[in-house]
Amino acid sequence: MATNITWHAGLTHEERATLRNQKGATLWFTGLSASGKSTIATALEQHLLSLGLHSYRLDGDNIRFGLNKDLGFSEKDRNENIRRIGEVSKLFADSTSIALTSFISPYRADRDSARKLHEEANLPFVEIFVDIPVEVAEQRDPKGLYKKARAGEIKEFTGISAPYEEPLKPEIHIHNDKISVEEAVQQITEYLKEQKIINI
Ligand code: ADX
Repeated sequence: MATNITWHAGLTHEERATLRNQKGATLWFTGLSASGKSTIATALEQHLLSLGLHSYRLDGDNIRFGLNKDLGFSEKDRNENIRRIGEVSKLFADSTSIALTSFISPYRADRDSARKLHEEANLPFVEIFVDIPVEVAEQRDPKGLYKKARAGEIKEFTGISAPYEEPLKPEIHIHNDKISVEEAVQQITEYLKEQKIINI
């Protein structure tokens, strides 16, 4: 029989956080396609990992091609996309990891629902608005999608033929047409320190 196993009838979130020596949280990036959400989230994930913190990014590549591969871009599908991501990020945060979610998440009500889920579980939820004017996003257009949307080849494209509802009171507002990736990472890290979400 194993003798070196510590087992409790119930493992609380606080015990887990103490044993892992880390608080969990969800950092919720929102913004237009090509605003730079994933670039910043990736750089931040690397930075947090280099500090020895558990961090994991959820984005189109690992969610829309897996768990959410049955969903498209209608309003209803986007609602469901974000609902599931809200639930999954909450599990990461509950596990005391820092979840970074990188999705357009264009609807305020959907983001607010994700926030509520976290607040009810006493887990920090940090909304990060990666803000660039739509004209700049359209000019960047790294995947050529704005062009296709203008040509009518992609329907319901955010910022062109589907809405983007800007956050009214994001915890962090990044003017991403004005600062570098490093500065954005620094801005977020400072906030996390101030809020005592990280202590490094
Ligand atoms: S969300 O609106 O449901 O949050 P999500 O972030 O998962 O969107 O996916 C957005 C990405 O899918 C865009 O960056 C773009 O590469 C691609 N995409 C394909 N069709 C659309 C569309 N109609 N509107 C916006 N993005 C689209």
